[in-house]
Amino acid sequence: MRLTQEQQEMLDGKQGEARRKSMELLIALGKIYGAKELVPVVSVQVAGVSYKNLGEAGLEFLAEMAKDGKVKVLTTLNPAGIDVENWEELGYSKDFAEKQTRVLKAFEKMGIQVSCTCTPYLIGNKPKQGEDVAWSESSAVAFGNSVLGIKTNREGGPSALAAALTGVTPRYGLHLEENRQAVVKIDLQNLVKTEADWAVLGEVLGKRIGNKIPYIVNHGNPDRDKLKIFGASIATFGGTAMFHVEGVTPNKTETPKEVVVISKDDLEKGYSELTDSQEVDFIGIGCPHASINEIKKISELLNGKQVKIPTWIFTARKTKRGADQKGYSKIILEAGAKIVCDTCMAVSPLKGRFKCLATNSAKACYYGRGTNDFKTKIGTVEKCMECAVVGTWQKRE
Ligand code: F3S
Repeated sequence: MRLTQEQQEMLDGKQGEARRKSMELLIALGKIYGAKELVPVVSVQVAGVSYKNLGEAGLEFLAEMAKDGKVKVLTTLNPAGIDVENWEELGYSKDFAEKQTRVLKAFEKMGIQVSCTCTPYLIGNKPKQGEDVAWSESSAVAFGNSVLGIKTNREGGPSALAAALTGVTPRYGLHLEENRQAVVKIDLQNLVKTEADWAVLGEVLGKRIGNKIPYIVNHGNPDRDKLKIFGASIATFGGTAMFHVEGVTPNKTETPKEVVVISKDDLEKGYSELTDSQEVDFIGIGCPHASINEIKKISELLNGKQVKIPTWIFTARKTKRGADQKGYSKIILEAGAKIVCDTCMAVSPLKGRFKCLATNSAKACYYGRGTNDFKTKIGTVEKCMECAVVGTWQKRE
């Protein structure tokens, strides 16, 4: 692999041990994927932040890197395992909170912004179209490539950290224009309407086309919140890191010859696959983290009402500050729901606390089932809030 003088110096350890190790990791990764060079990145987003997933070995690795490691570019973090300011009230254990705090301190020492969110693009880590970055949260990667038009592979936690410490990443995969072309056309027949439909579509498509890049037509002009929830879903169920939505995605693509038509039955099947029969005892919105518009909508749905079921809205702390200023948080809290920052349903140790999650996110269903042993139900935010207030889940028409 060709290295610049500065990259060679980092590899030789002239800029410290953390950068030397990082360069070794990036070069090894580049060799696996046939990269000929490293490309400078303007932004990094690091996943693998929750102590629940890292454990003691992960914490030791971070502490070691933090001895002399300093990031070279704007770097933000994925959700952690707790709400940093409110963990006690939300019922997280002191022991877990202490361990999580040590993890965050290690990241902070390296110069990383401890803004624990999977929506970096909503809180200021929003690179410009065409820029190369190294992001590791799968939903943010899908949204970034497909909606913002930035270029990133789906990094692992260690490779993203290495990119942050060195300012470069191997040029392969979605950093190369030829790999960003769609290979299958998806005709939605304008059937996909609500954000829950988009979440379910991600499940249906992910299972059907795997990690092929789709070109989506007859889509009904989804807004960014719908694309956010769709990206999370298709990345989870199919592993794809990019999609094209006709008229939305900045990248140009040839129209693929292979066509898949999505029917009403496909969507119905998706809904039933994500819906269990148990009674809901937990409502979670904000996977990916809720935007200010989504919080506004929830405040309108809960205004003057009281929830009967624990209702948590997950968001970035910075987004919550905006909601505080606009008065949305007050309405939501007065209704008895909670706004939870820095963490989420998947990376938070919630196992055993709830049995059945209602949500508008297919990714939340997937991880709720997988990591927290929840049963799940999926529906629109309107339906989830209705369930919260009425106390039961109404069947779909
Ligand atoms: Fe974000 Fe957690 Fe969902 S990281 S995309 S809220 S599983």
